Order: sequence, then structure tokens, then C-alpha cells
Amino acid sequence: MITRRSFLGQSTRAAAAACVPSILARSLSGQTGEVPNLDPGKLARFVDPLPLPPIARPLDHRTAPDGTRAPFYRVPIQAVSQKLHRDLPPTPLWACGSSVPGILFETRSGEGQLIEWANQLPPKHFLPIDHNLMGAAKELPDSRTVVHLHGGRTPAESDGYPEDWYTPGKSRTYHYPNRQDAALLWYHDHAMGINRLNIYAGLFGLYIVRDAAEDALNLPGGRYEIPLVLADRDLKPDGSLSYPVSPDPNRPWVPEAFGETQLVNGKIFPYLDVEPRRYRFRILNAANARFYRLSLSNAGEMQQIGTDQGLLPAPVATKYIQLAPGERADVVIDFSAARGAKIQLESQPFELMQFRVGTSPVTDTSTLPRALRPVPRIAESTAVRTRRLTLDETMDMVAQSVGMLLNKTRWSAPITEKPVLNTTEIWELVNLTEDTHPIHLHLVRFQILDRRRFDAFDYTYNHKLRYTSDAMPPDANELGWKDTARANSHTVTRIIVPFTGYAGRYVWHCHILEHEDNEMMRPYEVLPAGV
Ligand code: C2O
Ligand code: CU
Ligand code: CU
Repeated sequence: MITRRSFLGQSTRAAAAACVPSILARSLSGQTGEVPNLDPGKLARFVDPLPLPPIARPLDHRTAPDGTRAPFYRVPIQAVSQKLHRDLPPTPLWACGSSVPGILFETRSGEGQLIEWANQLPPKHFLPIDHNLMGAAKELPDSRTVVHLHGGRTPAESDGYPEDWYTPGKSRTYHYPNRQDAALLWYHDHAMGINRLNIYAGLFGLYIVRDAAEDALNLPGGRYEIPLVLADRDLKPDGSLSYPVSPDPNRPWVPEAFGETQLVNGKIFPYLDVEPRRYRFRILNAANARFYRLSLSNAGEMQQIGTDQGLLPAPVATKYIQLAPGERADVVIDFSAARGAKIQLESQPFELMQFRVGTSPVTDTSTLPRALRPVPRIAESTAVRTRRLTLDETMDMVAQSVGMLLNKTRWSAPITEKPVLNTTEIWELVNLTEDTHPIHLHLVRFQILDRRRFDAFDYTYNHKLRYTSDAMPPDANELGWKDTARANSHTVTRIIVPFTGYAGRYVWHCHILEHEDNEMMRPYEVLPAGV
């Protein structure tokens, strides 16, 4: 057993270094190899306007596997180069489309889409593959990809199973029926064993589902609705990406990749000119491992109106919004009282971007209703089964390597979680580690029941689950539908999950991508109803 402190939530570089074993900590000190990383503190702030991802346009309409007609899109997955800052040379990246974040999809609930994801990557990867990891053997081609729509209620054939990757020159056409409520989803690479590298390289983008219930609220829309995709990277002085490696060249994997440079929509320190009125921000944490704790430099309040899977029952006024990797927040900020002000969006100690509020008066016809969308709490009594699943960390003393597991089970072991379609289960995530792990289930949306501290020592050595605190209800801004939930250290996090949608084989995993790539991912299978 190794000792690691649970600092992930603090999102500072020092904290990042403090929570990895000392043998690996050196690699996170800001250097990879000989060239020191770029110090983002030396870059001019707020000189680039905030870019907005381009919106996808269909090529034509085609027949989907379920017989419906659907718009058809084709997305090249390819090498690009992009200016991350005015004073940096263009950075070589991989993109879904021509930019990072990738092309933006917009659709409506119940309106399906067909997307051909075409692998046009160069044959060699430009980030350090660790061939010791599951599914990343030397014999395999470098440039493998498969795309998953995170938060999508998607048939298994189109869900992007990690082993369904394909090589350059090949493509897959996936069908997204979108039979789900309005929400901010996101798509990203999911290739086995190199997912963390492919996403770090830039293979991710947004996917917005809208519906009539949301339209009826008259929230700020059009140019007053702005996506904000957060991610951190380390850069070399020439602007190229630097992914941290361990000191052992044969085992480059590190337990978490934290970057010193913060990007919003693929820019460092961007600014956004805003009018003195309400705006709606659709925020995604697309970082590999970093947790953000968002706040405004004027200590202003934000109204959180939605979570991963759509609208909250009511707006939650808050000065801080915590977002783990994979989580989303739907947020309204009212700039009407801040005419002429410059306000930074921060995640201490980082400044992420700046809002420059205009001075001319405007009329704002949008509204922020007190009631958004009912999210009835699911009764525990409706669950047909409770599964107790541990989150584990392992240390191989011989190899000096760290690993993470779900329920002490490797990826390759037979499937153990087989819920039946249209039944509800409670999953108790028993976190035996010193870290918070954001746990994500494909296909489904769920609710957080509660979190309760327990004695991890007793559990490990006496197989006894002894609670050391009362059950704590989810935070006010977690009372919506979720697809990714923070499972805190030495805490049992209980989620209640209706398994609806489709039968088939899916996955669940930690969304810290370094953990996911190192065995903290398991298949699960939804069995057809009535079997
Ligand atoms: Cu964000 Cu398995 O996904
Ligand atoms: Cu997912
Ligand atoms: Cu984890």
C-alpha cells in the first residue's frame, strides 16, 4: 500500500505532485526530458478572443439502422495545428474536424443523427504510449481511435466500445437516436490503453441536445449561450504538447497528468466581450485529471441551472462550481450590474479567461425561471438489487508500478455487472483509495443518493463496512440527473440507476483518464428485459 493524499479537488500543481508516489512525482515537476515546459505565467493575458467551435452541417439524409431517416455527417479525425495563444507558434494537435475542441453537434431530443467518424490520423502517435498497459501492446498500431458519445443513450453498436478501435484509412458510422432530455453531451476518443493520449492530443468535442421543455423556459440563447470547454496541458516552449512521463522509460505511464497551462475552447487566457445582461454558459471539464473549482474574480454569484444530464429542478446560486473530469455544468451569469467591468473566470490559483462587460444599456428578454424541470427523486424501494463495488489502488512492488481497479477486477475478467433492461439498481461505490474518482457509466443517467464516510482499514482487513459519519445528501447542484459522479476518498457514494434504453455491452470507469487507461474500467452488460 502506498500513501497518497487526497488533494485532487484543489487542482494546484503542488497538490498534483503531492498525490503521486514520490518515484513518479519528479515527472510532474514541470519537465519532461531535457526541455523545460513553457511557463504560462509569462504569456500575455487576455489577448485572444474566445474561439467558438464550428457547428456541424449534415452532408445529406440517410436511413439509420432503426429504419428512421437521419442527417448524415462525416468527421475527419486528423492531425491539425492550432494557435493556442497569440505569442505561440501553432501547436500540432489531433482533432475531430479541424479544431480543438472539435466540431460542435446540435440536435433535438428524439431526432437521431448518423455520424461517420473517419480515422485519417498519421500512422505514428506523437505522445508516449506505455505498452505495458492493457490493450496497448507493442504489436498494435499506434494510431487507433474509436469515438464515444459521453452521456448519450446510444445503442451498444454505436457506443464506441474501447476495443472497437480502428486504424487510419478506416471509418465507422455511428447512429445516435438521441431519445433523451436536453443536455450538454460530449464526444471523445475511447481507444483502449491510449485514451488518455488521444484525448490529450485533442480528440474531443461537444454535442448539444435540445428539447421543447427547455425552449419553453426562455433561457439566454443564440449568441448569449456560450460553450466553455476547460482543459489543461503542458506545452514546450515551441508550443508543442508535452505529456508527462515517469522516470522509467519502459513504463512512461503516470498516475495523473496535470498541465500547468489552462485552455478554454482551445485558447490560453482568452477574453469574451459580453453585454451587460444574462448569459448561459455550457461548461465541460475535458481535462485528463484536473478538477476545477470555478469562481468569478469579483466574487459574484453564478446560477447553476443544469448538470451532466440536463436541467436542475431549480437554479442553484453559488460562488463555486466544482467540476471533475467528464462533468458538465449549465450556468447563468448576469452581467447587468457589472457594466464596464473586467471579470476573470478562475479556478484558483489559475485564471482561465476574462469577461469584458460592455457599457451600453441593452434589453434582456431572456428569463431565469425559478422552476426549471422536475427531477423526481427515485425511491430506493424501486431498486431490484444493490451492488457493492470497491474502488481500489494497487502497488506492484516488483515493477514499482501503481494500478487502479474497480472491484479488484481487471478489464479482461468476465463481465460481473449484468443489470436487466428497465430495472433499477443501487450501486454503492466503496472508495478504498486516498483520491476522489469521478465514476462514469455509459448509456444511463442516474441520481446520487448520498455519501457516507467509512473506516477503510476495517474494510480492507476485517471485511467490515463500518461507517464513521452520517449519510450526507448530494450537493444542491448535484440534484439533477448525472452520468459522472465524484466518489470521494474513504467514502461510500451511493447512486441509483435506472437501466433504460438498450440491452448490450457497455463500460463504466473512472474518468481520470490515466486511471481509466490503467485498469480502472470494466465492461458491464445490460441484459434484455424478461431474460
Ligand atoms: Cu467520457 Cu467512457 O467516457
Ligand atoms: Cu460515456
Ligand atoms: Cu480514478
